[in-house]
Amino acid sequence: MKIKSAEFEISAVRPVQWPSDGLVEFAFVGRSNVGKSSLLNKLLGRKSLARVSQKPGKTQQINFFRINDRFRFADLPGYGYAAVSKSERAKFAKMLETYLTTREPLLRVFQLVDIRHSPMPMDVETYRWMKSIGLEVSVIATKSDKVGRSQIAKAVREIRIAMDGPEFIIPVSSEKGEGILELWSHIEDLMGA
Ligand code: GTP
Ligand code: MG
Repeated sequence: MKIKSAEFEISAVRPVQWPSDGLVEFAFVGRSNVGKSSLLNKLLGRKSLARVSQKPGKTQQINFFRINDRFRFADLPGYGYAAVSKSERAKFAKMLETYLTTREPLLRVFQLVDIRHSPMPMDVETYRWMKSIGLEVSVIATKSDKVGRSQIAKAVREIRIAMDGPEFIIPVSSEKGEGILELWSHIEDLMGA
């Protein structure tokens, strides 16, 4: 995919702030710190279009990015971050739930899991819940640079078993660029390009 334009549009707290022109959208969902914002930057070839942090809980609103005036990426707050208050956690969970249950232009969810660990119960629950409400989900295994090449296939198998066989599991590294082209061709396929 040739990126002709990539703009940050809005950091939205409430649904009325969501862009409403109907461009198709891809959402990045996953635990805090799994690498959602980093992946988005890497895909777009921009260092810090989306804000990244070593500390979990960086993305606290839904951030919308408009690409080539043709589609959008939505960078969502992470789930499962224990160090924020209970009410804060509940607020993020609600935001996520409202978005995922009502966002009409949402074409596909990219659920990110860390390739170094088996999916956590919260990853599996979130995946099942998304499927149960009829969403299409592709799983992205992040930080593939952190494991040896031979461990990648094994990790993918583990994810497939733990999550009941998602059709697409794509290992990526936002650090080294592995998997980025594969993910772009997946996105193009999904858009019927
Ligand atoms: P929240 O916004 O808190 O939900 O986190 P996030 O999922 O957006 O994660 P973010 O992109 O902010 O990255 C978290 C940390 O992981 C940062 O320190 C990144 O540099 C690091 N990171 C992200 N992707 C990779 C990767 O592919 N490889 C390595 N080695 N580190 C990565
Ligand atoms: Mg983030």
